[in-house]
Amino acid sequence: MNTREHWETVYENKSPDQVSWTQEKPEISLQLIKESHLPKTAKIIDIGGGDSKLVDYLLKEGYTDITVLDISAKALEKAKTRLGKEADKVKWIVSDVTQFKPIVTYDLWHDRAAFHFLTSKDHVEMYTAITNKFVMERLIIGTFSIQGPTRCSGLDISQYDENTLAEVFQTHFKQTKCLITDHITPFETIQNFQFCSFKKLK
Ligand SMILES: C[S@@+](CC[C@H](N)C(=O)[O-])C[C@H]1O[C@@H](n2cnc3c(N)ncnc32)[C@H](O)[C@@H]1O
Repeated sequence: MNTREHWETVYENKSPDQVSWTQEKPEISLQLIKESHLPKTAKIIDIGGGDSKLVDYLLKEGYTDITVLDISAKALEKAKTRLGKEADKVKWIVSDVTQFKPIVTYDLWHDRAAFHFLTSKDHVEMYTAITNKFVMERLIIGTFSIQGPTRCSGLDISQYDENTLAEVFQTHFKQTKCLITDHITPFETIQNFQFCSFKKLK
């Protein structure tokens, strides 16, 4: 099964309470986005957003230019159905992030638990080539930490700490804040995450 088929199958067959990454409210992401001090008109993209409720909260907070990208069309359909009419205020992109060809630049790029699935050097380089060129202000990345799981959704992931995350993005971005946090899954297990917020070097 290729990556796209894997994720389509997950979203076809599982509800949010049956997958480990579900959060009722993505508190850390919202906090780091708020601390970026960008205007409500900032262009924000959530990479591998799936059917996360981050977009719901960003809309509630008054952000007006939100894009959600995911490799799974089904994931985005679910998010759109949940949002109802509000979904029309969001741009939705079905794409593998490594193949993403942005037609605009973004002020803020957020990725919780999608980047860590890129386990090959080539894919990581494809990802950073995109962020280097198309992210203008802020990058927020959340991955499993070095204390966290080694697999997610049955797939291998790459774990990071703040140093290894800094190394990946250091040519164009400087870390402004990093933290580790425990995510309690819907099955009451714990996943330790590493989050870092980066500012674009000018
Ligand atoms: C663990 S889930 C996290 C979902 C969401 N970010 C959250 O925090 O709830 C990983 C998400 O990344 C998406 N994904 C995985 N690999 C991807 C890729 N190469 N390009 C785009 N999306 C990808 C999956 O479809 C899935 O929605």
